Amino acid sequence: MKIKNIYIVFLIISIGFMSCSKTTSTSAWKSFSGDKRIEQRVDSVLKLMTLEEKIGQMTQFSANWSITGPVMSDDFQPYLEKGLIGSIFNATSVKGVRQMQEIAVEKTRLGIPILFGQDVIHGYKTIFPIPLAEACSWDLEMMRRTAEIAAIEAASDGINWTFAPMVDISRDARWGRVMEGAGEDPYLGSKIAEARVHGFQGGSDWKSLSSTTSILACGKHLAAYGAAESGRDYNPAELSEHTLRNVYLPPYEAALKAGVGTFMASFNEINGVPATADRWLLTDVLRNEWGFNGFVVSDYTGVNELVPHGVAKDEKQAAELAVNAGVDMDMTGATYIKFLNESVKEGKVSEKTIDNAVRRILEMKFLLGLFDDPYRYLDESRAQQNTMTPEFMETARKAVASSVVLLKNEENILPISKESGKTIALIGPLMNDSINLNGEWAGLGDRNKSVPILKGLRDKYQDTSVRLIYGEGSTITETTPAKIAEAVSAARRADVVIAAMGEDFNWSGEAAVRTDIRLPKPQIELLKALKATGKPIVLVTLSGRPLDLSWEDENMNAILQAWFPGTQGGHGIADVIAGDYNPSGRLVMSFPRNVGQIPIYYNQKNTGRPVDLNNERIDYKSNYLDTSIAPLYPFGFGLSYSTFAVSNVRSDKSSMKTVNDKITVTTTVQNTGNVDGEMVIQLYTRQLWASVTRPIKELKGFQKVSLKAGESKQLSFELTSEDLAFYGIDMKKKTEPGDFKLWIAQHSADNSNEISFSVSE
Ligand code: NOJ
Repeated sequence: MKIKNIYIVFLIISIGFMSCSKTTSTSAWKSFSGDKRIEQRVDSVLKLMTLEEKIGQMTQFSANWSITGPVMSDDFQPYLEKGLIGSIFNATSVKGVRQMQEIAVEKTRLGIPILFGQDVIHGYKTIFPIPLAEACSWDLEMMRRTAEIAAIEAASDGINWTFAPMVDISRDARWGRVMEGAGEDPYLGSKIAEARVHGFQGGSDWKSLSSTTSILACGKHLAAYGAAESGRDYNPAELSEHTLRNVYLPPYEAALKAGVGTFMASFNEINGVPATADRWLLTDVLRNEWGFNGFVVSDYTGVNELVPHGVAKDEKQAAELAVNAGVDMDMTGATYIKFLNESVKEGKVSEKTIDNAVRRILEMKFLLGLFDDPYRYLDESRAQQNTMTPEFMETARKAVASSVVLLKNEENILPISKESGKTIALIGPLMNDSINLNGEWAGLGDRNKSVPILKGLRDKYQDTSVRLIYGEGSTITETTPAKIAEAVSAARRADVVIAAMGEDFNWSGEAAVRTDIRLPKPQIELLKALKATGKPIVLVTLSGRPLDLSWEDENMNAILQAWFPGTQGGHGIADVIAGDYNPSGRLVMSFPRNVGQIPIYYNQKNTGRPVDLNNERIDYKSNYLDTSIAPLYPFGFGLSYSTFAVSNVRSDKSSMKTVNDKITVTTTVQNTGNVDGEMVIQLYTRQLWASVTRPIKELKGFQKVSLKAGESKQLSFELTSEDLAFYGIDMKKKTEPGDFKLWIAQHSADNSNEISFSVSE
């Protein structure tokens, strides 16, 4: 049958279905929406499809003008013309997308529209701070909004699907992809996963997917990609089910609960099984235990990689393993389209497995509205109106200011007010740089449009009493005596030095792992020469990971961790330096004293031979011979231009039951400084005994509060029995009886406000 236009056929079928109330679905397929009418529409299309067309829907190809990995199938055009592609990745611009959609819709037998995917990670054209930086703001609404803006811009350019949010917990700063995540904590990571899914998809309801300003999100990388051994990308995650379930899985589950429509299987293995072939993970846990009804995509060539992993003898077997495990779509590897037809005929893959995968993919296309109007995302004027608007820029600037973390500020050297009359020497390879500011995974952000710190500061101090002198001093990796001399001469003529130092943007991101996470030697050489002038130095660090800043902590007067701040970087950083924004960022990853401490994280176990984090070394205890076990800067830490005090921590009860109970904890917080500011009040608990060992601290709540100078506020936190649940000795999630400590703290190493409570059956 040659069907010219599926929309006419589809209309007739839908009218037919409306008059007959029973669904024709014979399988155990559970739809994402749970909406019977949509299920019927999906089945009506499925019924028209040949096996080959079905497998085509399960195939994604990459448009070959923008490549982010090895290209398996360069020549996708014939597949497109035969209606054998479900999704295209990296096809951008309204014009480019329209060209391909027209072929799919007008020229193929069934005219099924294509889903256009892209890595929209921290902005599309307006680039926001890298996700790790944004997480340091602890501002969930801000993160929701930046994801929403990214979706608006991408959707206006024809994109319907982003491969984000990346919600991989990581405790290893060597791993370059920490820049894409939300740090080391499962609780905060889960909240951020939820905020970002809501931002991209326009809310938690599947109905919001049909808006032309939202895009489908993808929780990635399932699972525990961030636990790569030695921090080496693609390496196995060597971890127990206990740690997997208690630490690594919660953010994926949170993304699911937030309504995420798709997941990506990770490259790594757990327990000897690569995720792409892991039926336990992708079907037993994800679908049967958690109830996920969207679709799963492999990572780039993840299916083909089952061969080098050593679990498939060839790509045909790899495709069979992946689809039977629960991978519905093959990203760019072309294994499904090449082999699954034969596998079905041989009985190695059931047609029901294929049908269910196709239903899941078709349903998303329905929910996005692509069957109603395949060109609904393609409007040139919308693309122009919705890109880099003044409002998006303003949001980006605020996002920068709230993401930077003030790590040190001796003698309140910062802020440098516009009235101070000071001369500032502006030094360093990243001072007048715009190329690196966007960081990795920066969508279609134009690197030349990002505001250098030098420009931000020049604009800020223009027509004020402050004078600025500039000297580069070094590139990221090289310096010369002449460059150093120029910078030193600028420093000598100044009252204070601001040095912008750090990493090249492509030293983090995918396949960008470092074993030495200090500043490059030429930059330290430059800092030493600047220090020799005796002038106070403010170090502004730009990086995609926590660095080892031990030397800098000892030798610099102030340190401002600015990450990679994106399009509005220079302006947002200048706002903080001049005191127009009082820094409120708090670290979401521990900063190590040296690389030998890695993996390092606050929610560690006590061991049978603990030492207090701040104690000196003790023989035969769990510590190092040559350094402390404490990080240089702990999780949750960050300074402000003000100071804050926490007092009167009380709970309404001293015990609660394991189910359906709660305690309320109240506290007074005060801004004890001279300037208005925001603080992140953090609630941590510790269960002292249980069926399995518990972390020495676990974040269970936080509030970001704004306080005027001198102002006090009463805060109240509710802690439910369910908040204390974990996977115990029987690998079931529940709350166990026990004795607890609870802290209301300014960071994870702050023990000054402690109370106790207990939980009983
Ligand atoms: C590989 C990365 O692991 C994944 O995060 C990304 O979405 C795909 N490549 C597509 O670029």
